[in-house]
Parts: sequence; structure tokens; C-alpha cells
Amino acid sequence: MRTSFTTLVGCRLPIQLAPMPFVSTPDLVVAVADAGGLGMMGTPMLPPDELAAQLAALRARTRGVFGAGFLMPFLDPACLAVAAAHAPVVECFYGEPDAAVVRAGQAHGARVGWQVGSRAEAVAAAAAGCDYVVAQGTEAGGHVRGRTSLLPLLSQVIDAVPVPVVAAGGIATARDVAAVMAAGAAAVRIGTRFLTAAESGAHPRHVRAVLAAEAGDTVITETFSVMWPDAPHRVLRSCIDAATALDAEVAGEMRLPTGPLPVPRFAVMSPTRETTGHVDAMALYAGESAASVTRVEPAADIVADLARGLAPAEPASVVVVRRLFEAFRVRDVETVAALLADDVTWHFPGRTGRLAGAHRGRDAVLAFLAAVPGLTDDTFGIDPDEVVGGERTAVAFFRGHGRRAGRTLDNPTALRVRVDDGHIAELWEFVWDLEHVEAFWS
Ligand SMILES: Cc1cc2nc3c(=O)[nH]c(=O)nc-3n(C[C@H](O)[C@H](O)[C@H](O)COP(=O)(O)O)c2cc1C
Repeated sequence: MRTSFTTLVGCRLPIQLAPMPFVSTPDLVVAVADAGGLGMMGTPMLPPDELAAQLAALRARTRGVFGAGFLMPFLDPACLAVAAAHAPVVECFYGEPDAAVVRAGQAHGARVGWQVGSRAEAVAAAAAGCDYVVAQGTEAGGHVRGRTSLLPLLSQVIDAVPVPVVAAGGIATARDVAAVMAAGAAAVRIGTRFLTAAESGAHPRHVRAVLAAEAGDTVITETFSVMWPDAPHRVLRSCIDAATALDAEVAGEMRLPTGPLPVPRFAVMSPTRETTGHVDAMALYAGESAASVTRVEPAADIVADLARGLAPAEPASVVVVRRLFEAFRVRDVETVAALLADDVTWHFPGRTGRLAGAHRGRDAVLAFLAAVPGLTDDTFGIDPDEVVGGERTAVAFFRGHGRRAGRTLDNPTALRVRVDDGHIAELWEFVWDLEHVEAFWS
């Protein structure tokens, strides 16, 4: 599905993985990018050469689109320059939009986005030259920038900026996707649901707690402010209770490629798969969407599921009729035969001639169609204008046009098709100018 966002960044689907440090593993980024979305990696405490190596490795593993997300309080300009050179998308969060940072991100042609929490911040991001903005509602998991929930924020931001607007916060199902796309979003950004993906780097206890969460089990707090003060964040309520009750200054230890890192009580880091200690008392980030997330799935399946919300699926009968027209267009008799039920009836109007009447059974219908060169003779075509329908019945409007023995036909026609179990069970053709049609086929 094309939107202003997919056109801008070049991905196939308007679905963005949130950059979640340690959670958005390379496997998760690649899986989302391969599935057609925009894979985003977090860039936590990475030295520039390590970031360059990770981005090069991503490039080697996927032909999809990926990007790198930066948190402004921890921004290392050298890392931003590396990302700008190696990733097609660079993004910033949690700081005043800054035109110099945006320009540095765009230096090699990368698109630069900014996640914002208010209309004013969105306007500032667009004025700073951002190619897109992410409107983050307060439903979001992780650090929460603003004070407005997603739908009102989205409306305000879309009205205020001329760039594509991505919706973030509380989106976890195809229905949620449909709702925000209908509200004008150019894409959706998903954190919490991908945190539970099979490829996620989150600690299994964190994942289990998210899957078990119900409505009201997350809360915005400033509890986990060690290493990043004054930054409200949404976590599972249970981890606040556990951290408050913890009788130790160190909650556990993270094992990073650079070596072990103690996790102080109330620290900002969320537990990775390799973290040990009192995991339940660490920052278990989760959005309100946690209540809709119930099982671990491969990221590709999550993308496919969310994508169902992007465009209303066509009813089964319409799909069958479109396939019928496509088979006629390429004169694929086998597919036409396969689309017909064994006991299909094809009604053709008329008072005289070999075409008139009801043709019953697949063989009879194929013989009838062979006499109507729409299927067998490339001087004749049928081009659908419109196909509409419900689950069992579709109506197609088309023009039958061609030349035959010095005669021409250009005749508007309608088909009513009854579909049973994916096959055409009965079909009625209605033509506008019957005399002309009969003369043409006689
Ligand atoms: C575990 C976790 C870590 C996050 N870390 C970041 C981050 O480093 N940078 C960022 O821009 N957003 C971060 N976010 C917020 C997301 O970008 C996004 O706004 C949020 O996940 C959307 O809401 P949802 O979780 O309901 O999908 C994080 C979210 C989660 C759940």
C-alpha cells in the first residue's frame, strides 16, 4: 500500500518498528524490513565504529528499508554522522527539534524524522526541515513526550505540518491500524507489539508480563529516572511496585558486548534477554496496547496481521470475479475453468442464435465461451469498469469490444455472479444492445 510515507522512505508498507534500544535487535529490524515495513534500530551507548558495523551488517542482510533512532539527551554527533552515511532513515526523539541535527542527518540523502508529543513540537520539527514527524500519543510504551492522547494529537499535527505524519501509541491490532489510517496517518509506528515478537531482545519475563497485561495495567511514571531524569515513561504498574519493594541498590546486571553493566534500582534500562537479577523490578516498558497483545509471533506475522488494517479486504465474490476478468485478459482458459463450479450455470440473454440461453455445467460453459471469442480470440476484449459485491454475490460492469467479419462491437455489459465456496456457481449476463450483439455474433 502506497502512502506519502512509503513514497518518502521507500518501504512497501506504512508500518514502522519503533527504535527500542536492546529490544529492536538486528533480527527484529531485518524481519520487519524484509516484511515490507520500516525496521528501526535503537542506538544505545554504541561507539560510532560499532554503530557503523551494525548498520553495514543490516545492509548486508536485508533489501528492505531500515533506520536508526537517536535519543537527544544522549546524542553523540559522531554517531549521527555514521547513521546518516549508512542508513536511509535517521530519527530523533526527546529534545527540541534542531535544524543543524536535521541537516547532519540528511547529509548523505537519508530521510530524517522526529517523534513529537505536541502540535507545537511537530511545527518546530517541520520548520527544522524534518522529512516526516511521528505523533506520539500518551498511550505509548516507553518514554512519553507529550500530554495528549493519540487521536486528538494526530488531528492537530496533521493540520499543522506539510510532511507525512506517522501515528504512534496504543496501536497493536489491524483494527487500530485501520482507525489511525482513517484518521489521516501516513503510517503507523509500533513498539509494544513488536516487543513481544519472537525476534525481540526483551527479557522473556518482560514479554510474559506484557502478554498477561490487561487494560489499566500500564501507567505513566517517573520511577525509572536513574541515568535519565525528568522524562516520564509508560511501564507496567507491576514493575513500579517491585522496584519500590526491592531492598537493594542494584537490581541486577546486563551483559553487553562491552562487558557487564550493573542495573541500579530505578535505572532507565529495560532488561534484555541476557540480563540477570530482579528483572521484574526493572523498567518494564509497555504501552496501553499491551492489553491487546496476547502471544509471541514472528515479526513477519505481526506485520502481515497489522497490514490487514491498511485496506479493507475485498469480499470473496469480488476477488473471484476480478480473477475471472484477469484470466480473460490473458486468455487463460485453464484458470477460467478452475474458477467455475462443476455445476455452474451461465445465462446469456437473447432470443435467437447459439449464444442465447442457460449453459449448464463446466464443459458446456467452456464450449459456450469458446464460441464467444472473449476468451479465445485476441481481437475481442472485455475490460471491467467496476466490480462490487458482498461475500456471495458480485456485480461487474464492463465493456465487451472487438471486431468480427467487418462488424464492430462496443457494448456495455453487466454480470451478476453468485459465488459458492470460492467458485462461480451461477452467472447472468446483461447486455444493453441485444440486437446489435446478436448481429455481431451471428
Ligand atoms: C521498550 C520501549 C523502548 C522505547 N524506546 C524508544 C527509543 O529509544 N526511542 C524512541 O524514539 N522511542 C522509543 N519508544 C517509544 C516508541 O517510539 C513508540 O512511541 C511507542 O512504542 C508507541 O506505542 P506502543 O508501544 O503502544 O506501540 C520505546 C518504546 C518501548 C515500548
